[in-house]
Amino acid sequence: MALPVEIPRRQLFIDGEWREPVHKKRIPVINPATEAPIGDIPAGTAEDVDLAVDAARRAFTRNRGKDWARAPGAVRAKYLRAIAAKIIERKSELAKLEALDCGKPLDEAAWDMDDVAGCFEYYADLGEALDGKQKAPISLPMETFKCYILKEPIGVVGLITPWNYPLLMATWKVAPALAAGCTAVLKPSELASVTCLELAEVCREVGLPPGVLNIVTGLGPEAGAPIASHPHVNKIAFTGSTETGRRIMTAAAQLVKPVSLELGGKSPLIVFDDVDIDKAVEWSLFGCFWTNGQICSATSRLLIHEKIAKEFLERLVAWAKNIKISDPLEEGCRLGPVVSEGQYEKIKKIISTAKSEGATILSGGVRPQHLKKGFFIEPTIITDVNTSMQIWRDEAFGPVICVKVFSSEEEAIELANDTHYGLAGAVISNDLERCERVSEAIEAGIIWINCSQPCFCQAPWGGNKRSGFGRELGEGGLDNYVSVKQVTKYTSDEPWSWYQSPSKL
Ligand code: NAI
Ligand code: MG
Repeated sequence: MALPVEIPRRQLFIDGEWREPVHKKRIPVINPATEAPIGDIPAGTAEDVDLAVDAARRAFTRNRGKDWARAPGAVRAKYLRAIAAKIIERKSELAKLEALDCGKPLDEAAWDMDDVAGCFEYYADLGEALDGKQKAPISLPMETFKCYILKEPIGVVGLITPWNYPLLMATWKVAPALAAGCTAVLKPSELASVTCLELAEVCREVGLPPGVLNIVTGLGPEAGAPIASHPHVNKIAFTGSTETGRRIMTAAAQLVKPVSLELGGKSPLIVFDDVDIDKAVEWSLFGCFWTNGQICSATSRLLIHEKIAKEFLERLVAWAKNIKISDPLEEGCRLGPVVSEGQYEKIKKIISTAKSEGATILSGGVRPQHLKKGFFIEPTIITDVNTSMQIWRDEAFGPVICVKVFSSEEEAIELANDTHYGLAGAVISNDLERCERVSEAIEAGIIWINCSQPCFCQAPWGGNKRSGFGRELGEGGLDNYVSVKQVTKYTSDEPWSWYQSPSKL
């Protein structure tokens, strides 16, 4: 079957040019909906990372006054806005490539492209404004001193990203990094790099100066690890699993390199007994089945008040069975395949372990009968869960919700916080005071009230506990790439007179 869009055969993007990886290896691109190979991407290694970091360093520091770091924010903003415009121009093609590469429904991929463009525009505005804050004065208690703050780009940054929102997660890092005046080496996931390589082409087309953004695709240990441990990479921003986050932090610690980590989660959604059941059911599904269930902030632990539990679960199952599961490119698709065979096997194992530990698979848990190929798993709802089970504790990263029933607000909060993670949480109730109380009590970086998952680039994003640290998006997202320097000036004509001149002795 002819593909609706050709996977472009790209090289690594280093110093503004397409380059063959030093070892000339490639990684196949598999369409998760058909299991068919549809192209390949270059497999970079430490040698390519060295070249990319060198290019980024040169772009950061070359020609005093003309380089990226010292260019006025308005100049950098012009490039970011041009990138946003090109993304919108190529939106439908990019969305198709994203859907083919990672399996997300086409409508969601199109939504992602709007978010990508919006994020570039948002950071273009903030980067421009940063110029005005370049010399923020500080008032000091001694008149003989004057002080100001310089906000400077941190340097060359290493950006390592996952496959669930391939281009969007890269953008959450690339846009603020470039807006702040940093230059970057991006390593997208080997499972979904195609649209990130298209971002490189977009950068080339808009004439982004060479070396400002370099993209090295490849396997984690071969292309990601050398970025984390590179002596000339000044900061690492990572989104992905807690395990890989730990490895990156360990590597960065050797060089005392700052890191920001956005890791996994096992986030709760609490539904009280005063809700409109259908509305709450829909948010419960969206909270975990959006992006085929592969969302770090998925509210995959559903806590339902005992008074409505029976009716709620009946409707939840009925709505879940009504979700259209199909090839992501088919009109109206709402659930596609998970990204890879490895993830498919991992999710199936988590479901079978839940069963063997005594939980009940109320709905789903299997491949849909009408789809013989592809990494599809029906939306899965699991009940009779106890808090020692793996399904309660570990991230499934697939369309799998586990349910527990509670009888009081206090119990709901205790269950919500019974996790090593702390990325997100949600509460649904008509009592808004209660919603706010519960929001304060949940130990997490993101809380949704009467919804789950909507995300805006203006609002800070990130977690606590083993979900990582640091915040992306919002104004703070720019601070991730900014180094603050204080400059203090002695303004008096008088000598300081702490020590005595020997001539006076
Ligand atoms: P991963 O965390 O291994 O991959 C994320 C990125 O890190 C990829 O670009 C990968 O190539 C890179 N990487 C891997 N090993 C590395 C290393 N030693 N040094 C530097 N970079 C390295 O995630 P993976 O294996 O694809 O998925 C496994 C699990 O991770 C999923 O089942 C899910 O639970 C979780 N995950 C969480 C995500 C989130 O958004 N928080 C996103 C993707 C996965
Ligand atoms: Mg792929």
